[in-house]
Amino acid sequence: MAPEASTMAPRAYGFTGTRKGGSAQMTELVVASNRGPVQFEVDDDGNLTSGRGAGGMVAALGPALAGQAGTWVAAAITEGDRVAARRVARSGRLRTIDLAQGPVRLRSLVFDPREYQNYYNRVANRTIWFLHHYLFDVPRHPRFDRSFRVAWQHYENVNRAFAAACADETAPGGEVFVQDYHLALVPAMLRRRRPDLRVAHFSHCPWADPGFFQMLPGPVAAAILDGMLGADQVGFLVPRWARNFLHCCLEAGLAVDFDRHTVRATDGRLVRVRTYPLGVDGEALRERAAQADARAQDRVVAELSRGRRLIVRIDRMELSKNILRGLEGYAMFLERSPRARGRVVHYALTYPSRRDLPEYQAYTAEVKHLADSINERYRTRTWEPVLLELRDNYPRALAAMAAADVLIVNPIWDGMNLVAKEGPAVSRRDLVLILSRNAGSADDLGPGALLVNPFDTAELAETIATALELPPDERAKRAALLREGATALPPRDWFGAQREDLSRSRSEH
Ligand code: G6P
Repeated sequence: MAPEASTMAPRAYGFTGTRKGGSAQMTELVVASNRGPVQFEVDDDGNLTSGRGAGGMVAALGPALAGQAGTWVAAAITEGDRVAARRVARSGRLRTIDLAQGPVRLRSLVFDPREYQNYYNRVANRTIWFLHHYLFDVPRHPRFDRSFRVAWQHYENVNRAFAAACADETAPGGEVFVQDYHLALVPAMLRRRRPDLRVAHFSHCPWADPGFFQMLPGPVAAAILDGMLGADQVGFLVPRWARNFLHCCLEAGLAVDFDRHTVRATDGRLVRVRTYPLGVDGEALRERAAQADARAQDRVVAELSRGRRLIVRIDRMELSKNILRGLEGYAMFLERSPRARGRVVHYALTYPSRRDLPEYQAYTAEVKHLADSINERYRTRTWEPVLLELRDNYPRALAAMAAADVLIVNPIWDGMNLVAKEGPAVSRRDLVLILSRNAGSADDLGPGALLVNPFDTAELAETIATALELPPDERAKRAALLREGATALPPRDWFGAQREDLSRSRSEH
């Protein structure tokens, strides 16, 4: 999901007590994730502005947590985040962030840049994310050399700091919801510090099958599983990822009950492994799309398509999103359908992501090159077949989804993919969704979508042709199914279900 680009002045609410050790500030509910709900930027005059953090995890948790009197523990990522964190540290109070749905308290952690870079880029993104999305160029990578061992220590240190912060912020007997692969070790570390807490871990990405998972050095694989199993409950988006996790536990020699979905952790506790599918809040999204900034983009989008059929994609510039094969499929469609030339436009809105990684830099260059070459081959004086945008513009993304005839969501693998759900929810044209069967959202949207194998570009080309030719009644029927599947489990219910299970988990032990 595209990040909210709006600026909003974070304001300090009148909390009392000090940041450290003061029970006045501890809350019953704490969420921990690498990326926080907002990202700060600092201007030349030292003023701070903030926009919403990127990606599906924040998109889900923001609305789920807002207004629930909880604390969000996150890393300071930008220079603005670090400035904001230091100012707060001086004041001795936590900052309260005003999200659209309500206030959230933020505890922002500042790390040594080298340590953060090793934890975030080398281990979390270049190793664990690649692993769970099968992104390695296996003949060459990964190589777990000595420098990886050093990076792993940094990963441990950052996880330890998160665990300490969660221990500081959570009231006795409270609940901590730890998010994603960045913080796999936090649950076990936290349990050692605060055995009184109830802890959940949730993965927003897929989980690799055991053969692939075991590419990791043995102690690292074991530490990840043990770390997550420090939680009372381990959550995934769809059953496929939960099953892979259970199989990884089995291969690691742990006792797994596939009927009850439990794993016996090394300390003897029974850990529940659960699936919590996530959808979008249709009403809130439609209201957001009706706001002035998004409506102003309707004209821009209409101007781009000029009455032509509009094929849209919206993604982070991310290897797993399969943008290259998406463009190749579109080029093949143009090749095979001469009559479509001049009558369609492919609008690809992609916004920058993980720019420090060489793989992402090379991928961005390849995407640009491919879009250029399609345009060079087919463009006319009045028609540009591909419009590629490389920036973050959420109001425009909403306007593009609302006006699209076809939305392409073709990830290689994806935990859920919320764009696939946002599109149908805001569409004003009964959009046709072309969806990778390897996205978790295919489980909920399968009946309404046109499912594709993300590696089969010829199939994608044919599916684009099919999508554009679907008769109106068929489109309407599919769009209704999509809307239903997309909005079935909005973030609040998704989070509510996890809280309910967690509050029951203790009594079962
Ligand atoms: C995915 C992950 C999130 C992450 C997001 C954006 O949705 O599950 O944990 O925050 O991508 O990635 P970034 O590296 O920019 O935080």
